Amino acid sequence: MKSTPAQRYAQLLSEVRRHDHLYYVQAQPEISDAAYDRLYRELLDLETAHPKLVDENSPTRKVGGAPLESFRTVAHAIRMQSLNNTYSEAELTEFLNRVEKNLHGQNADYVIEPKIDGLAVSLRYEKGRLTQGLTRGDGERGDDITENLKTIRHLPLAIAQLPSLIEFRGEVYLPEPAFAALNQSRQKKGEPLFANPRNAAAGTLKLLDSREVAKRPLAICLYGLGEVTGLTLTTQVALYRQILDWGLPGHDWFRHVRTSAEVLRAVRELDQARTKFPYATDGAVIKVNRFDQQKILGQTDKAPRWAIAYKYAPEQSETRLIQVTFQVGRTGVITPVAELEPVLLSGSTVSRATLHNFEEIARKDIRVGDLVRVEKAGEVIPAVISVNLSQRPAQSKPIRPPRACPVCQGPLEKEDVFLRCNSRDCVGQLKRRLQHFAHRGAMDIEGLGEVMATQLVDAGLIQHLDQIYELTEEKLTSLERMGEKSAANLLAGIEASRRRPLWRLIFGLGIPQVGAVLSETLARHFRSLDRLAQASAAELTQANDVGPKVAEEIVAFFREPSTQRLLAALQKAGLNHQALPEELEERGGVFAGKKFVITGTLSAAREDFIRQIQSLGGTVAGSVSAKTDFVLAGDDAGSKLEKARTLGVRVISEKEFEKLVG
Ligand code: IVH
Repeated sequence: MKSTPAQRYAQLLSEVRRHDHLYYVQAQPEISDAAYDRLYRELLDLETAHPKLVDENSPTRKVGGAPLESFRTVAHAIRMQSLNNTYSEAELTEFLNRVEKNLHGQNADYVIEPKIDGLAVSLRYEKGRLTQGLTRGDGERGDDITENLKTIRHLPLAIAQLPSLIEFRGEVYLPEPAFAALNQSRQKKGEPLFANPRNAAAGTLKLLDSREVAKRPLAICLYGLGEVTGLTLTTQVALYRQILDWGLPGHDWFRHVRTSAEVLRAVRELDQARTKFPYATDGAVIKVNRFDQQKILGQTDKAPRWAIAYKYAPEQSETRLIQVTFQVGRTGVITPVAELEPVLLSGSTVSRATLHNFEEIARKDIRVGDLVRVEKAGEVIPAVISVNLSQRPAQSKPIRPPRACPVCQGPLEKEDVFLRCNSRDCVGQLKRRLQHFAHRGAMDIEGLGEVMATQLVDAGLIQHLDQIYELTEEKLTSLERMGEKSAANLLAGIEASRRRPLWRLIFGLGIPQVGAVLSETLARHFRSLDRLAQASAAELTQANDVGPKVAEEIVAFFREPSTQRLLAALQKAGLNHQALPEELEERGGVFAGKKFVITGTLSAAREDFIRQIQSLGGTVAGSVSAKTDFVLAGDDAGSKLEKARTLGVRVISEKEFEKLVG
């Protein structure tokens, strides 16, 4: 049956609105621009043919009107306030304590929501119609930007169910994809670029010609109230639900919690979640949920006492590059390191960052004295990502790669984009190799970390790895700041390491391309270090997960005379070279056939979890896919956790993991 024009009109309206929302708010369009244009065209045609049908909220009405001479300034019915800021969890906790104290024993509950980086506005609906939109201005009076706000696609101009008078407070913003597109087109036209989405939104709202505004897809999120009559809601949470129920744009991410610990947890959760939002956020807003409690708490002249902003440390910061040093890794690769003026980045102070390699330095044209942009993403070490060329000091010179190893002065060889010191006696490499050998995930020697490794090598106590096992109390106490007690502890740690499972020793040797997981496979397959050391490439590829390239690396490593000397010396020192019975146990177990991915910070070394999973028959992969059975997530888990959630993969905490293990 053919639908009537009215039915088709209703259908088209809801379709176009849905696509507007997907495009402008979620930045996830489902259809092509051309398909959208067809729907829009049909809507327009239907409206021209049947003027009586026209809905005043129709997306076709969002095209803007005649330009203004200037904006009128209008007094706010109720003052528009700002928020106080906090910059640390300690400050946030102080705020929460203050709230509880001022409520004289009443318990408070809270809402945590994104702090959108845009511009505050006030919207006034009278008898269900949008009659006025104002900027915040000085809080008392704002500019009348009604015509500009009416161009916002997903903002209804009329809603029948609204109370007779209601003012909403909210944030106008330019979604990230729209911001990128806007800057791109400005660049093409040779117009100056906006520094960030917030400036772009501000610049747009200031345009006097709303037809120009209509061309930029502004969006809005409503999060508060101004003057109201005839509304009986009693909490912030109820307001947020009501806003969405009315069909108005509101928060789709907020958390309702009760205790301080839950507030902090939600704030951290939001820090992860916000990376996926289609708009820029620079913090969380924490609000007391109950309106009656908000009233008791009141306000100062600038900000309410019932709400506060928590600013996340920027993920990127600019700082000065003081100098470049060169670090020698355990395989001899030279990494250029940026020594920086200390800067706050993702909650910690950063004074060093990796410059990756010399080709990167040349490509980005990084020079000493430059103002550089540094970034810290997730668990990754900070990196220099770009240079602010407009701030470059005069007469700066490009950074020259070193001609010799910065530690042993030996010759350097070029390998792909890397420079490598191939000298086997380089103490720079030795320090890193020692550190790796003793590391928690490898031989697990307590007390032998970076500082101790450096000290032992610098004092000449260790020139070869195996000399760890020749250390005595006498030798150790000759070191600076080393008392008898710490010497005894270190010696006990070293002693215990003689009986470690074979896979830990294999991993500790630092064979190129051989990580903890592969070390276990090799231990199970070859059962002794000697057999592994003598294996041919063909024999190696018989083991699980060993490809020809890795096999070659392993063969080359064991063929080195220095490796052979090391193995003999370690054997003489009484180190276990055989697989222990528990390493060889059959892998039935609760995780038989199950695929795991591990992410975030756990209470023990990642390798320990990998081992446990494998000993129970499971396998561990590096990335999440639909085939993953479990994602074991620790603190600060990032993109892998997100991916697991979108794919519907089961996510378990360490506690739950322990339960499964039994
Ligand atoms: S509440 C009286 N909630 O941040 C309550 N503000 O730094 C006042 N902002 O002027 C505001 N997201 O422009 C609130 N979810 C949110 C917000 C938010 C962004 C802005 C707003 C305010 C500024 C204060």
